[in-house]
Amino acid sequence: MRLFHAESEEPGATTVKGGDAPAVPLAERIAAVRDEIERTGTYVHTAAELAFGARVAWRSSARCIGRLYWRSLHLRDRRHVTAPDEVAAECVGHLDEATRRGRIRSTITIFAPDTPTAPGPRIWNEQLIRYAGYRTGGRVLGDPRYVGFTDHARSLGWVPPSPMGRFDVLPLVVSGGGEWAEKGPQFVDVPEASVLEVDITHPDHAWFADLGLRWHALPVISNMRLDIGGISYPAAPFNGWYMATEIGARNFADADRYDMLREVAEKMGLDTSSDRTMWRDRAAVETTLAVQHSFDTAGVSMADHHGESQRFLRHLEREEQAGRTCPVDWSWIVPPISGGLTPVFHRYYDEPTDTGPMFRMDPQQAARGQGCPM
Ligand code: ARG
Repeated sequence: MRLFHAESEEPGATTVKGGDAPAVPLAERIAAVRDEIERTGTYVHTAAELAFGARVAWRSSARCIGRLYWRSLHLRDRRHVTAPDEVAAECVGHLDEATRRGRIRSTITIFAPDTPTAPGPRIWNEQLIRYAGYRTGGRVLGDPRYVGFTDHARSLGWVPPSPMGRFDVLPLVVSGGGEWAEKGPQFVDVPEASVLEVDITHPDHAWFADLGLRWHALPVISNMRLDIGGISYPAAPFNGWYMATEIGARNFADADRYDMLREVAEKMGLDTSSDRTMWRDRAAVETTLAVQHSFDTAGVSMADHHGESQRFLRHLEREEQAGRTCPVDWSWIVPPISGGLTPVFHRYYDEPTDTGPMFRMDPQQAARGQGCPM
């Protein structure tokens, strides 16, 4: 409350959008909250407090390089929603409102909080859109990261498309809050029309298209808990837009994900007999370039690591001017290729903090994202 009121009094402050200024003076609001907690064991955020809290939680996300625009986060207030099918439907609504055919808007949907009488709903998926992974003998078809989650979805009754593919969108797995909390999780398919995807091609290498790669336009983290002022929202999916390296140099490149580098290098005609020919490095750059090119051509918002690094330094400057520290996790902010070519590499940062509005990964949710019910 103090942070919200203090920042709202600054000129050009946090809460410029949508007139979300505090409605009553700080002392009055604190007294009302104390009283509400005494009577009910909890309290209800005003719409303005919620928006401020969500934006500051983004601002405090030490692993996010895209924080310059934290003030523009678009909020969908769905605190009344607890039934699993309604949660799923609102998640699909989130996809539609955030995707906008490629003009991606940073968006968060906030579902019912935990209360002393009942927990809020939970989304088991790590992200609203992810691809299934199927064990086929020794190999995995699709995304190996989601083999466990895919098995769990099937155990709930989900039936994969036939034939199974490398890019089958997983169903949402949701457990309800409130009166539904006792029941187990339910799966709900994500309608195809709500999932924008991009086929990956390369600006110079026609053969790249034959690799048959594609990726979804929208990254929506859906298993982190949003904590604001002592109130905990276990389901609060949020999205930004992709940076090309996330897909090109990690999802397609990591040995425990799509592991495409050898195939790309071979198609490039590189000598893959020794690491010292740097075929991996060269293939990772070309794969990232292909991702950037494909999203750009399709008109889908995507950052590049050079531009985003510069914007991030601008964010740091602004935070400093505002008299705030900016928590940063260097190992997440520096891109997975060409680190030293970006300015974010060449400095130290403030350590991540554990106070204030914050997105948190709770261990149960992390396990569920891998398909381990607990
Ligand atoms: N790295 C994750 C992925 O590849 C997405 C994390 C969030 N990224 C973002 N640009 N908001 O799906």
